[in-house]
Amino acid sequence: MSTTTATPHAMPHAMPHGETITIQYTPYGGARDLFGCRDRELLMEGPAGTGKSFAALWKAHLALLKYPGARWLLLRKTLVSLKASTLVTYREKVLHPALGVRFWAAKGDEPAHYAYPNGSKLIIGGMDKPGKIMSTEYDGVLWDEATDGTLDEWEALMTRLRYARMPYQQAIACANPSYPAHWLNERANSGRMTRVLSRHEDNPAVTPEYLAALDNLSGVRRARLYLGMWAAAEGTVYEDAWDAARNLVPRATISKRPDDLYGDCGIDPSWPRYLAVDFGYNNPFVCLWAAEDRDGRLWIYRELYQTKRLVEDHAAEIKRLSRWGALNGDPLPRLVICDHDAEDRATLERHLGLYTMPAHKSVSDGIQAVASALRPSGDDKPRLCILRDSLCERDASLADKHAPCSVVEEFDAYVWDRRANLKRGEAPVKEHDHGLDALRYLVAERMLVPSEVTYGSEPWY
Ligand SMILES: Nc1ncnc2c1ncn2[C@@H]1O[C@H](COP(=O)(O)OP(=O)(O)OP(=O)(O)O)[C@@H](O)[C@H]1O
Ligand SMILES: [Mg+2]
Repeated sequence: MSTTTATPHAMPHAMPHGETITIQYTPYGGARDLFGCRDRELLMEGPAGTGKSFAALWKAHLALLKYPGARWLLLRKTLVSLKASTLVTYREKVLHPALGVRFWAAKGDEPAHYAYPNGSKLIIGGMDKPGKIMSTEYDGVLWDEATDGTLDEWEALMTRLRYARMPYQQAIACANPSYPAHWLNERANSGRMTRVLSRHEDNPAVTPEYLAALDNLSGVRRARLYLGMWAAAEGTVYEDAWDAARNLVPRATISKRPDDLYGDCGIDPSWPRYLAVDFGYNNPFVCLWAAEDRDGRLWIYRELYQTKRLVEDHAAEIKRLSRWGALNGDPLPRLVICDHDAEDRATLERHLGLYTMPAHKSVSDGIQAVASALRPSGDDKPRLCILRDSLCERDASLADKHAPCSVVEEFDAYVWDRRANLKRGEAPVKEHDHGLDALRYLVAERMLVPSEVTYGSEPWY
C-alpha cells in the first residue's frame, strides 16, 4: 500500500469566495486504510453498516475537491438502486451546501453528474444502462454493493480508468462478503485487488440495537453480515442443486432485448408463459414470470418481490410490466399458478382478468423436482434457469432488515430444519421461502403434473 500525505478529516477547504469550511469526517480502522491507499483496485469489504460506503464516498468527494478537473464515477448495478441508497448518503451527509456543487441531469451524451466549482465531476450511473458511463474516462470509480456486478462488468470499467487529472487512478468496490468463490473474493485472493477490511468498531454511529439485529440473523447471513466472512451456505435445501454459475444466466442467453424488463422481454413470443405467485403482505408477495422453451426448459425472466402492498396493487403492477396485448407485450400466460389462499386468489383473478389455478402444494416432491431441474440434465444443461437482474424493484424495508430481496437471494437462506426430532432433508425451516415456494409451484406444475404444450397456439382461455 502506498500512502497519501493528506489528512482526510477536519480538513479546511478554501471556498471560491475566500472563506473556509471544515469537513467533519473522521475515518477509523478500514476507512483510514482506504484513505491511505493508492492501489488501482480496492475491495472495501466488511459486514453490514460498518461505514464502507460512507468512507468511499468521502474519499471520492475529497479527491474531487483536491484535484481540479478530476472525474469520478459513482455507480451501482442499477441507477434506481443508487438513487435510493448511496446517493442519498452522498447528498445528505457528504455534500456541504456551501461548496456550491450542482447537480446536472443527463442531457444528450452527457451522463447525470454533480459538478464541482473547480471543474471536477462526480458522474452517476447504473450498470443496467452502461452506454453513457462507459464512453467516458475516469480518475476514480466507486462501485457500491459490487457483489451485484459481474467480473466482465468490472473489467470493462477498468478500461475506463485512465483520466489523468489525479496522480493515481483508483477503482473501489464496496461489498458485504458473499460466497467464497465470488469473483471479488477471488480477485482479492489473487492479489489483483487490494482488500481493505472494514469492521463494526470503525463506525462510531453504529448502535447496540443494530448489532443485536445482525447477531440475530440466521445461518450464512449472520456469518456474512455480522461476522463479515466470505461464507458458503451450508445446510441449505438446494445446496447440492443450485449453482449460480450454472443456473443464473445473462439475459442475452435467450433475450433479444436484454436491457428490457417489460413486455415479452425480447424472449421468443411463441414460448408459453407462466406466472407463479406466492401471496404475502408482511412477508413478501412474489410473482415469477417464466417462459418455457421447446425442450421444456423453464426460464424465469421477471420477478416481483414486495412486502406491504395489496393484492390489487400487485395485480396492477403485473399488468403494467407484462403489457399484454401491446406491441412487444408479453403473451398472455398459459397458467397463473397460485398459493391456495381463496380470498387472495379471487382478488388477483378479478384484477388481472385471468383465471388462476391452485398450486400443487406438497413440499418434499416439489423440492425434489426443483432440485432435479436445477441440476444438469441429459444434455448437460439445467432445466431451470433464472435470468440475471430479473427483479423489478428492490424492497427497501427488506433490504434494511438484511432479509433476502429476491428468489436468488433465498437460495442461501432457505435451510433444513435441524431440530433433533427431524432427519436432515425432512422439512425445511419455513423462512426465506417465498420466492422459492413460487418457484416450486411452477416446477411442480410443469414437471410433476403431466400435461401437453402446443407452441405458437393461442392460450387455452
Ligand atoms: N466515521 C464515521 N463517522 C460518523 N458516522 C459514520 C462514520 N462511518 C459511518 N457512519 C455512519 O454510518 C452510516 C452507515 O454507514 P455506511 O452506509 O457507509 O455503511 P456500509 O458499511 O456501507 O453498510 P452496508 O454494509 O449496509 O452497505 C453512515 O450513513 C453514517 O451516518
Ligand atoms: Mg454500503
